[in-house]
Amino acid sequence: MQIRPRRLRLGENMRGLTRETRISETSLIYPLFVKEGADIKDPIPSLEGQFHFSPDRVCEAVDNSLKSGVKSFLLFGLPDHKDEAGSGAWLSEGVVQVALRLLRARYNGEITLITDVCLCEYTNHGHCGVLKGETVDNDKTLPLLAKTAVSHAQAGADIVAPSDMMDGRVNVIRDALDKHSFTDTAILSYAVKYASKFYGPFRNAAGSAPSFGDRRTYQMDFHNRREALKEAILDTLEGADMLMVKPAMAYGDIIAAVREVSNLPLAAYSVSGEYAMIKSAARAGLIDEYGVMCESAVASFRAGADMLITYYANEIAGAIQKGDIG
Ligand code: PBG
Repeated sequence: MQIRPRRLRLGENMRGLTRETRISETSLIYPLFVKEGADIKDPIPSLEGQFHFSPDRVCEAVDNSLKSGVKSFLLFGLPDHKDEAGSGAWLSEGVVQVALRLLRARYNGEITLITDVCLCEYTNHGHCGVLKGETVDNDKTLPLLAKTAVSHAQAGADIVAPSDMMDGRVNVIRDALDKHSFTDTAILSYAVKYASKFYGPFRNAAGSAPSFGDRRTYQMDFHNRREALKEAILDTLEGADMLMVKPAMAYGDIIAAVREVSNLPLAAYSVSGEYAMIKSAARAGLIDEYGVMCESAVASFRAGADMLITYYANEIAGAIQKGDIG
């Protein structure tokens, strides 16, 4: 037999035929930061091009995304008041809950509303759970997360996304949602969340940096891959409907590995530090922002993600519509 090395050389307009990775604007999720107050649209200094919106103005961001075909949103809350336990997280008049009700009423089923369920934006110490001395008390935090998730469902969330990394939280959240008849509310678990310096700009944007210590007792060590699979399997068994790997850019191997052990839909979160790196390198004239944005978005899907959470969602959707990717 003769070996015939051949590389398929299709013309530019035919490349779509054999493309291995497809992405659509419907698989993009855009994060929104909702701040307590009225008539606020303030630029976020650490995240160029992103804004803090008060609940009454957040629809401006949604309208803008809908124009480019992005229909799914991940909400983060910035409350005025913080305390030891993070009680602002589950108030029915809390900032996220108010925004949810307004958005649900205005857009009905036209958009998917996902909420970040965590206490770090609501605690005065900035940790993701209640404290026992200087450490986070996993088991005392669980019912608070469950209450928060239920309050989001009551206000109109379609999907709740616990990002705290406490053990067993998917289980208690599922129980609580079912008990309150929110059996259709889905859980997108931040199953594999690394303790990462890539979150720097977000903590600035959300005012959620821990006031002491770090998150390494509950978030994962970036040296570990098997542990990611363990977390993914446990959350699948606890009843998660979807899983997430976070960050995305430096964790393509983890996305690919999680894809293999769970059949659940998988999201990758291209986090604030990834966005900020592209923005600042582009501003310094070192890289082509549009090209790098497209390439890194496709990379997460190529690795195995079904959905991508990204601050570039609108621009990526634009690139898909132009036919530059997808
Ligand atoms: C809250 C939360 C964080 C992010 C999403 N949810 C911060 C953290 O864990 O410190 C990071 C998002 C980003 O960097 O874009 N727990």
